[in-house]
Amino acid sequence: MYTEQVMDHFTNPRNVGEIEDASGVGEVGNMRCGDIMRIYLKVNDQDVIEDIKFRTFGCAAAIATSSKITELVKGKTISEALVITNKQVAEELGGLPQPKMHCSNLAADALKEAIKDYQSKKK
Ligand code: FES
Repeated sequence: MYTEQVMDHFTNPRNVGEIEDASGVGEVGNMRCGDIMRIYLKVNDQDVIEDIKFRTFGCAAAIATSSKITELVKGKTISEALVITNKQVAEELGGLPQPKMHCSNLAADALKEAIKDYQSKKK
């Protein structure tokens, strides 16, 4: 049912944890299943995401997409990170089964929330 990439990120998730003095934190929940994801960002003066960590209380697809998105945005600027979509994350993982596509929203939405939090603190 899951691709090898999904299983890899699920069994060996990258960038799990929290950042104490995070520049931005985003949390979203999925109404359909009750799963929750939180993303922590560390952003430098050039708007580059230097570090990113996540905590996901969710299914295998939610954990794999969270892990993948942290890999995708690390080292990117905020504007580059903002254009990453849930569809792109799923594609990077070789696809998700259709009933599991909604799980990838969690990662992309939590990232957007964390960026929003960072931008509001910067003002
Ligand atoms: Fe809840 Fe996948 S079933 S995020």
